[in-house]
Amino acid sequence: MTESHPEFLATAPLDETSLDQLFRQARTPHGWAEMPVERETLVALYDLLKLGPTSGNTCPARFVFLTSDDMKERLRPALSAGNLELCLKAPVVTLVCHDPLFFEHLPRLSREAELRNWFAADVGLSEETAFRNGSLQGGYLILAARALGLSVAPFSGFDSYAVEDTFLSDTGWRINFLAGLGYADARVLSERAMRLSFDESCLVL
Ligand SMILES: Cc1cc2nc3c(=O)[nH]c(=O)nc-3n(C[C@H](O)[C@H](O)[C@H](O)COP(=O)(O)O)c2cc1C
Repeated sequence: MTESHPEFLATAPLDETSLDQLFRQARTPHGWAEMPVERETLVALYDLLKLGPTSGNTCPARFVFLTSDDMKERLRPALSAGNLELCLKAPVVTLVCHDPLFFEHLPRLSREAELRNWFAADVGLSEETAFRNGSLQGGYLILAARALGLSVAPFSGFDSYAVEDTFLSDTGWRINFLAGLGYADARVLSERAMRLSFDESCLVL
């Protein structure tokens, strides 16, 4: 908050290098350097991504970081064949999950006293809220990781029931997608696939 103009919170755009790192040069990796991702980096990653906005500050995402070979091997039977190598070789495999009972934390997370009961009384609304905001927080994870110099390989090709059975039965959390985390190797990537243009994807009304 600026002292001189408290009504106007000015933030400058990031510099070109930062925009390159987050978006223009960032790619989904095809392989990993043999460089570990330390626990402190995972904590720094969470401490950034947790600040991304969620509706009503519901914060439904939960993250399970598989860091040991033993734990990653337990994931193997759940993975699609085409994802085995890149996923299991990632220094860390993140299970991007959400907690269907996220609303139990709302008395601490929200100043609106009624919010907990509102979600608790409506399973449809709470499921939609958990999935929507958990997905957003998964996106924040990708960008926060890039901001910290990591690369991220997300995966949707896996058996959700097998992942939930193997890793999440004690928590009741639901899996959304997987994200390999690490430092990309220097492998040359194919040209980036095209994206839809502004005019194809956007309406300005
Ligand atoms: C939610 C999500 C799920 C994905 N699932 C898979 C997957 O199962 N297997 C795979 O090889 N790539 C998967 N990808 C990788 C995408 O295909 C890749 O990130 C996208 O084509 C962009 O590539 P680029 O970053 O090199 O431009 C997934 C990406 C996302 C965001």
